[in-house]
Amino acid sequence: MDVRDAVVVVTGAGSGIGAALARRFAAEGAAAVVVSDRDGTAAHVVAEPIGATPDTTDVTDPAAVADLVARTESAHGRVDLFCSNAGIATGVGIEAGDEAGDEGGDKAWRLAYDVHVMAHVYAARAVLPGMLARGHGYLLNTVSAAGLLIAPGDAPYSATKHAAIGLAQWLSVEYGDRGIGVSVLCPQGVSTPLLMDPLAADHPSARAVAAAGAIITPEQVADAVVSGLAAETFLILPHPEVATYWSQLAADPDRWLAGVRRMVAATT
Ligand SMILES: NC(=O)c1ccc[n+]([C@@H]2O[C@H](COP(=O)([O-])OP(=O)(O)OC[C@H]3O[C@@H](n4cnc5c(N)ncnc54)[C@H](O)[C@@H]3O)[C@@H](O)[C@H]2O)c1
Repeated sequence: MDVRDAVVVVTGAGSGIGAALARRFAAEGAAAVVVSDRDGTAAHVVAEPIGATPDTTDVTDPAAVADLVARTESAHGRVDLFCSNAGIATGVGIEAGDEAGDEGGDKAWRLAYDVHVMAHVYAARAVLPGMLARGHGYLLNTVSAAGLLIAPGDAPYSATKHAAIGLAQWLSVEYGDRGIGVSVLCPQGVSTPLLMDPLAADHPSARAVAAAGAIITPEQVADAVVSGLAAETFLILPHPEVATYWSQLAADPDRWLAGVRRMVAATT
């Protein structure tokens, strides 16, 4: 798809990759860009200089996501491209936290599932009726290379990003022949607060990402997205070597997992 003249919504667009996508879509001549984030101030700061519409929505709230789509359709007539991009790192394993102040236990798992899986469901549920009625539309779901491979040091991230790939494959099979494009954006390390804050704090999961490959800029990710949308490929890989890793994993999982264990041991 060509983003020129498109009506685009980007979630998690108050920072990092989402902000770079919103800026790039505006520069490419999108008809309208909605910069949505749970942090309304951040959304405003990104939207204002590019003439976009700021929006405050928590993507884990299905009614709020439905409202975001309804507001956009009412203001701009349609949504051509919905970028479900918001995401979080948890940096925890399988340990259970205490329910009171649980940062590292089940709450992290539930929140990761809500943000990385259910948010894509809520977006598709809200936006597909209009797209199907018009006969065209595009879902771009930001996942991660961790959805194809693994994020050492972050079990909820690994599991929920894998689930997001499965959901997107399902969406593509179900709706791909009815005018709906589906792509998953799967970068490795990108220089945004999600990675750079834990890297500055020397967190093992961030160290593993840094050891696994180049850390690229959100603007480089936006370049890959514009090309991937033009080509309408399911996989958008700003780090192209991820395709090789993925095929190596599929060909010989035991060898590949042993290699990751060696890499993690060397970085911790
Ligand atoms: N940075 C990386 O290395 C990297 C690599 C692969 C994939 N990703 C993915 O890219 C996406 C964007 O991450 P980023 O790196 O730009 O991080 P970021 O922290 O810079 O931006 C994420 C944005 O999402 C927003 N957000 C979080 N939870 C939300 C919610 N419930 N509702 C609405 N907004 C919410 C935050 O407020 C923030 O503005 C995420 O899905 C992330 O998993 C990032």
